[in-house]
Amino acid sequence: MKTYLRILSYAKPYGKFVPTYIIYAFLSIVFGLLNFTLLKPLFDVIFEQVDPESLAKYIEKPEFSFSLEYFSHLFNYNFLQVAEEHGKMGTLYYVCAIIVVSVFLANLFTYLAGVVLAKVRATVIKRMRMDIFGQVSKLHIGYFSNERKGDLMSKMTNDVQEVENTIVQSLRVVFREPMTIILYFSVLFFMSPKLTIFTILIIPITGAIIGGITKRLKKKAVQSQESLGRIVNILDETLGGMRVIKAFNAELFMRGKFDQETDYYAGVNVNMARKNELASPISQFLGVFVVAGILVYGGGLVLSGNSDLGASDFITYIIIFTQVLNPAKEISRAVSSIQRGIASAERIFTVVDTPSQISSPVNPAVLSSFEKSVEVKNVSFAYQDAIVLKNINFTLNRGKTIALVGPSGGGKSTLADLVPRFYDPTEGDILLDGKNLKDFNLKDLRSLMGIVTQESILFNDTVFNNIAFGVEGASEKQVVEAAKIANAHEFIETMEDGYQTSIGERGSKLSGGQRQRLSIARAVLKNPPILILDEATSALDSESEFLVQEALTKLMSNRTTLVIAHRLSTIQHADEILVIERGEIVQRGTHSDLSQIDGLYQKLSSIQSV
Ligand SMILES: Nc1ncnc2c1ncn2[C@@H]1O[C@H](COP(=O)(O)OP(=O)(O)OP(=O)(O)O)[C@@H](O)[C@H]1O
Ligand SMILES: [Mg+2]
Repeated sequence: MKTYLRILSYAKPYGKFVPTYIIYAFLSIVFGLLNFTLLKPLFDVIFEQVDPESLAKYIEKPEFSFSLEYFSHLFNYNFLQVAEEHGKMGTLYYVCAIIVVSVFLANLFTYLAGVVLAKVRATVIKRMRMDIFGQVSKLHIGYFSNERKGDLMSKMTNDVQEVENTIVQSLRVVFREPMTIILYFSVLFFMSPKLTIFTILIIPITGAIIGGITKRLKKKAVQSQESLGRIVNILDETLGGMRVIKAFNAELFMRGKFDQETDYYAGVNVNMARKNELASPISQFLGVFVVAGILVYGGGLVLSGNSDLGASDFITYIIIFTQVLNPAKEISRAVSSIQRGIASAERIFTVVDTPSQISSPVNPAVLSSFEKSVEVKNVSFAYQDAIVLKNINFTLNRGKTIALVGPSGGGKSTLADLVPRFYDPTEGDILLDGKNLKDFNLKDLRSLMGIVTQESILFNDTVFNNIAFGVEGASEKQVVEAAKIANAHEFIETMEDGYQTSIGERGSKLSGGQRQRLSIARAVLKNPPILILDEATSALDSESEFLVQEALTKLMSNRTTLVIAHRLSTIQHADEILVIERGEIVQRGTHSDLSQIDGLYQKLSSIQSV
């Protein structure tokens, strides 16, 4: 229930639509009901049961009041007038004309209510999607390596869809049908209190039975959505890794994985449908059971002449009662499908409710420029339990370059991730101009830094937009200038549409070196005082490598740089080189210092100079 209300809260403010909806729905139900109550006079006319004596009390026009009494009196009053003036055929026309008008109005208001609800539905789902996306983009980087991407994607697409299909879809039922049932029962009660009390007993019984059936539905729904998440994961990996899958002849292996999961998913769904589909036939059946009861009991009363109901009243009563069965059926169906929606909504809300472990302080310190230094003090770090960085200390002064080198898996990228606060150190502090990084607004902090990651991250967009990424209102001139500095201008010029060429998903239409140069151009354009470079390991051909190196050198000039170098030739001019092995600084100094000492650095450079 809490989850349900929370979903509805996305439709706030309610004042915008709830009153309108209730009025439309109410009118559409009333006119719908009117159609059926008009059957009685219709039968009376056709079966020639109009009894002038019983109508005699309607000779006076009634005083207005908002009650069934008034409307029925008003109808009978007019009915009597018409009967006296135009005879039987006249009354037939009169009744039929009213039926046509009221059917028209009933449908008109059903339509209007439907439109209001459609707006609510669209708003709820739209806001929910935006909310999830907004929350997810705020989450800390670490969250994304712990959560499976497929599951997250599935939550953001399939689960939202499920909420739309079940919960939001059933809004109509939840709001309108109870109103229908109450109004219909009022009329039934008005017609015959005795019979109606008998029939009302059916409702709790049906409710209990349906409730029992749908109890376990939610658990199944969770299993189903989790399985769908795994399916999306397999799809994502397969589509992303198609080249490798084909190269290793692993199509069958992936297919087996996919088939197995899909099979499981289908099974859970059939299982769920078994229960889900039971709800409406059961309520229907119980309803008819009661109708039979009324027929026997009420019919008996009519036949024996002991009833306050005449034959046409009785038939009308039965017809109206059968109309209540539909909303009852709809409600029970909705209740069971809402269970599935709730399961999905809960999955979604776990993501929305995850607090970001990295966030800006409430009162951030002012940070407009970078003046002095970045100090890393006694920093240790662990992703989970295993310690990746141990007691790291260094100071990066403004305008200087510090290089990190060392064997793979040593912790260089991890260390670089701590500076823009992708992660916070487990122990120790990082200070910027003497103040802890945690004191600053994340946005301010990151706007001082340009980051070129180990893998070039590009988006499925044009070259221009990839370079101008995150820099609002960049002019064409600036973008071209940045591309020139990054040695990217030439190859961009030769592309089909130049800067407007789309580079495909993750830049798949570009070579590795080209991708790197675009990432560099992006950093050039941002023109940040602090640069964090994680040099790519992928081997480039020497021409391409030269272009990338040159671009990097240009980018680094006059800037404060933390560079992770795999090619030691890049960093000969670095002010300090830190050799990192298994999370610790094992050697530090300049290139010329370290080259002369027998140690890891010497070993690494001798391997590379071969
Ligand atoms: N998201 C993560 N969760 C858990 N462990 C991680 C994560 N990222 C990296 N590690 C582990 O942390 C250690 C250091 O990784 P890191 O990427 O910092 O190494 P690196 O020095 O940059 O290596 P390379 O030169 O290959 O890029 C590795 O043992 C790695 O397995
Ligand atoms: Mg790395």
